[in-house]
Amino acid sequence: MDLGINGHTAVITGAARGIGRAIALRLAREGGRVCFADRDEAGAAEAAAEAMAQGGEAIALVCDVTDRASMAALFDGAAAAHGGLDIVFNNAGIAQTKPLLEIEDAEWHRMMDINAFGVLVGMQEAAKRMIAQGRGGKIVNTASVAGKQALPLCAHYCASKFAVVALTQAGARSWGGEGITVNAFCPGIVETDMWRQLDDEFRALPTTPAGTTLGDANPDFPLGRFAAPEDIVGLAVFLASSDSDYMTGQAIQVDGGMVMQ
Ligand SMILES: NC(=O)c1ccc[n+]([C@@H]2O[C@H](COP(=O)([O-])OP(=O)(O)OC[C@H]3O[C@@H](n4cnc5c(N)ncnc54)[C@H](O)[C@@H]3O)[C@@H](O)[C@H]2O)c1
Repeated sequence: MDLGINGHTAVITGAARGIGRAIALRLAREGGRVCFADRDEAGAAEAAAEAMAQGGEAIALVCDVTDRASMAALFDGAAAAHGGLDIVFNNAGIAQTKPLLEIEDAEWHRMMDINAFGVLVGMQEAAKRMIAQGRGGKIVNTASVAGKQALPLCAHYCASKFAVVALTQAGARSWGGEGITVNAFCPGIVETDMWRQLDDEFRALPTTPAGTTLGDANPDFPLGRFAAPEDIVGLAVFLASSDSDYMTGQAIQVDGGMVMQ
């Protein structure tokens, strides 16, 4: 069955590792013409090589999501290599564990620059090209459960992910008539390098009791285990496929049942 992935061009930012890498590898296995995009050039190249070793069609391109010229070059490069632009994942992001009173101005601006402005730029530059092509498209943004409920130790991260949810809704309302859907997925805790960094920062706080991890700070939830990147892939790929053609503007949790709303 054609799910709108086989033979279609997909760009995934933050694809050098973690969630983005898992999504990009799966899209390549589904027959997508995949562009692994990241500011980590070597990591992106290594991930694309893995996709090709599995028989997929893949290239790696360097990008900085906060730099509009870089993102324009990314989408033009992917379209030139693979023929057009059909699916875009705005997934690159950063995080930080920091009590609300201690967040510094530069930390706020960096968080909002990469996580929120980076998604705005990715959506704009993708949509411009999809509209010009005239064959619709799929934009999928990585939000978080932190985009649904704010937490005391990462207020700036939460604010940036609430912004991703808002941008998702605004994009859906702007481009539905052009056949472009815009949706987001909201992971809970995924055991990636990002999570390990957050845990290190948590354990280094003077207020953290010895031997406590950031995982301990999360109460029981129905599925009772943290996610691997592969746990996120099914929903992400669904949002990029034609099976989700009648959905737009949604931000859906994939979090083991942590947040219910
Ligand atoms: N890990 C989690 O628990 C979790 C939970 C919810 C949401 N998320 C979100 O999922 C996404 C991926 O997270 P992850 O856990 O895979 O993180 P990760 O740190 O493992 O990977 C993030 C990737 O983004 C890239 N990146 C960062 N800034 C960039 C920039 N300016 N331009 C281009 N690339 C850039 C990094 O080089 C890295 O390869 C992020 O948006 C994150 O906020 C993660």
